Amino acid sequence: MTEAVTTTARTICLVPGDGVGQEVIPAAAEVLATLGLDLRFVESSAGFAHFEQSGEAMPENTLADVATAGLALFGATSSPSRKVAGYRSPILVMRRAFELYANLRPTVSLPGAFSRPGLDLLIVRENTEGLYAGREHMEGDAAIAERVITPKASERIARAAFEQARRRAAAGRAATLTIVHKANVLSLTDGLFRDCCRRVAAEYPEIAVNECLVDTAAMRLVRDPENFGVIVTTNLFGDILSDEAAALIGGLGVAPSANIGASVAVFEPVHGSAPDIAGQGIANPIGAVLSAALLLEHIDQPAAAERVRKAVNATLSAGTLPADLGGHATTREVTRGILENL
Ligand code: NAI
Ligand code: MG
Repeated sequence: MTEAVTTTARTICLVPGDGVGQEVIPAAAEVLATLGLDLRFVESSAGFAHFEQSGEAMPENTLADVATAGLALFGATSSPSRKVAGYRSPILVMRRAFELYANLRPTVSLPGAFSRPGLDLLIVRENTEGLYAGREHMEGDAAIAERVITPKASERIARAAFEQARRRAAAGRAATLTIVHKANVLSLTDGLFRDCCRRVAAEYPEIAVNECLVDTAAMRLVRDPENFGVIVTTNLFGDILSDEAAALIGGLGVAPSANIGASVAVFEPVHGSAPDIAGQGIANPIGAVLSAALLLEHIDQPAAAERVRKAVNATLSAGTLPADLGGHATTREVTRGILENL
């Protein structure tokens, strides 16, 4: 396949982080570097190991590197499940610092018995507020979390979702947009979210729109996921539903994501640092590699993105499967397979 060579050099900031992030980000960077595009890489530190050494989980110079590049490929970091003074998850810091308001999480069928066929859905998750607003406090012995929903963030994420739907419709892909909420119980917050989505829908009359309560959406994702196109939803619901969707195509090891803002975009596999398998050389690099493909699409290199996806599919079709997909291939062997199939 011939490829138009880009004339615009782009720099990508690599932030591997902790655990398997250190194993899958180099694999994804190697795939990007092999495409013959004019891409440069800088590597920066973040994460819990860095926090323990220096007292900083997300150093200022890493934030500056990401801001300068405008593009980052992030692995994962380990977050303690108890509150540790001074620690805040680097991905949450980046989402806030760069207003990475749109979290795109596609679920596309992969070749193999581990994946259900016929799926091509996209979860568009609001990424800046909801229950992730960081507003927790104690009232006596009760712990309270506030759920923040604003018209600004809701309309912005709705517009991002409709733009994705429009692009998919133009490519002949499933483009029905489903607004997922729980407005029957959370009538103020999710009522506002739903109304904002409906308002934006009027600007996209060609896109079919429907609504679904989040619990029903969770059930339908298991029962008839092939009937979904684009799902737009609030922060926590999107987090949960996208892990559920990942299970349909082989699990967290293969799920990619993008965090998009006005001037910065950060691409990351959906999975975390996987401490149970870290350091063994067996992590599945496909979630990170498909996140790199999302990066390529974002920088207007759709043909290169397609090349990467085809190489992943060819590697899986050849039976080169990592442990989480039922095989024995190491991270290195899966990566080599992808590189050979590019
Ligand atoms: P996890 O995603 O790290 O692992 C869940 C399960 O999936 C584990 O069994 C793991 O072995 C498996 N898995 C994950 N990635 C894999 C890969 N590439 N290949 C093969 N198997 C893989 O989630 P968990 O265990 O809940 O969290 C572990 C740590 O990661 C925690 O400290 C958590 O806070 C952090 N985390 C960080 C995220 C981020 O930085 N964006 C996102 C999610 C979790
Ligand atoms: Mg998650």
